[in-house]
Amino acid sequence: MKKLIVFCFIITLNITVTPAKNEEKVEQNVPEWAKESPEEKTKRLEWWTNDRFGMFIHWGLYSMGARHEWLMHYERIQIADYKKYFDHFNPDLYDPSKWAKLAKEAGMKYVVVGTKHHEGFCMFDSKFTDYKVTNTPYGKDLIRELVDAFRAEGLRIGFYYSLIDWHHPDFPYDWMHPECPHIPGGTMMQIDSAATEKANQTRDMQKYQQYMKNQITELLTNYGQIDELFLDFSYYEKRHKQWDSEGLLKVVRSLQPQIIVDDRLDLNHTTWGWDFVSPEQVMPENWETRKHPITQEEVRVPWETCQTFSGSWGYHRDETSWKSNNQLITMLIEVVSKGGNLLLNVGPTSRGILDYRAQERLSGIAKWMEVNNRSIYGCTQAPEEFQRPQNTMLTYNAKNKILYIHVLKWPTFKSLILNGYKGKINYAQLLNDGSEIQFRERGENVELSLPLAKPDTEIPVIEIFLK
Ligand code: GLC
Repeated sequence: MKKLIVFCFIITLNITVTPAKNEEKVEQNVPEWAKESPEEKTKRLEWWTNDRFGMFIHWGLYSMGARHEWLMHYERIQIADYKKYFDHFNPDLYDPSKWAKLAKEAGMKYVVVGTKHHEGFCMFDSKFTDYKVTNTPYGKDLIRELVDAFRAEGLRIGFYYSLIDWHHPDFPYDWMHPECPHIPGGTMMQIDSAATEKANQTRDMQKYQQYMKNQITELLTNYGQIDELFLDFSYYEKRHKQWDSEGLLKVVRSLQPQIIVDDRLDLNHTTWGWDFVSPEQVMPENWETRKHPITQEEVRVPWETCQTFSGSWGYHRDETSWKSNNQLITMLIEVVSKGGNLLLNVGPTSRGILDYRAQERLSGIAKWMEVNNRSIYGCTQAPEEFQRPQNTMLTYNAKNKILYIHVLKWPTFKSLILNGYKGKINYAQLLNDGSEIQFRERGENVELSLPLAKPDTEIPVIEIFLK
């Protein structure tokens, strides 16, 4: 029985299981508003698992510093000094329809845009703070403009919202906070504990909890349907109590029941407090798994990795560590080959444009996606029976029974051997131009006849229609 349950659980990619033995226990722990069957959850995540590829946007006052979105922390900039950015924020070249077109051409199907980062500045019009874009020289709600523009291009909308807030007077000091009392001359982590504790006595976390709920309510009420919510991030153990993560999630679910929420609320010990895991700037070795809190089995979970072009999330003028188009396309393929989603970040400049390097990367991806996107959308990890030839990555469309072989390094000798593929292939073609790839069986294997010259696409894909 237990085995069967775990099996169903994997099939639905869902951890809201109800194992018979533990059923009561699970049911007792799940709040009424969070109850959902595995089928319902799979359905809710269906578009997301199909679409695979989204755009992340990190844009805020930090874009003016242009040297990392955490500059306020790294340089311990005091709120009063940070105000210079607020006073000068005026993205006069902002035209989100241009961004939306670039995203769409790159094959991205959804966008997750920062509405407030750790600096506390709100990119949207909020009734609950004056520290917002409508009070800067720019004067308009740029989230609304962005939402409208991306929707017009057919992309789904997601919001990033920082739980951390270095501007709000009730957000407690800790070593990350730029204004936290530090030991003079000490390192970033050497805080003056007594002074910090004293200063925190006048900071009321409950008020801050309410502030977050109010703002999340605004974001999930005033902008139509929101499809993903990226809450970032709850650190230290048991922080969910401090954020009242459960209460916050309740607000989220009641306002937008279809929304897909990340795992940074520190509710990972539950089956219901998150929808997907969000490995950041790393490539998981395999499909992400988590230990199921009841069965204790490692099970596959939905995952979305967020990645940058060059290291920092916000616009960083002087960063030179930009990934190449080939690396970025490989990244997308690799993520899908392990059953995940990719959220690829852009950090617009403070004048509101995507700088030339970002545009160049997006068009490189667009060029590849234009002819190869069938190996991404609706695809996932290939079944184990299909061995991966050297220098390739596989993705698989289960609905259409098509296997995609991404050839990372084009072979020197006109052929590619597929071990153990005998009797499995119906038809094969190059995806970029739909030209037939002839093949013959050799023992248990299949030999594909490839053109000598590498096809004119960054990473060629062979589309294999299976029997
Ligand atoms: C981290 C960083 C942040 C970035 C985010 C993206 O948590 O604090 O700067 O926004 O990851 O996932």
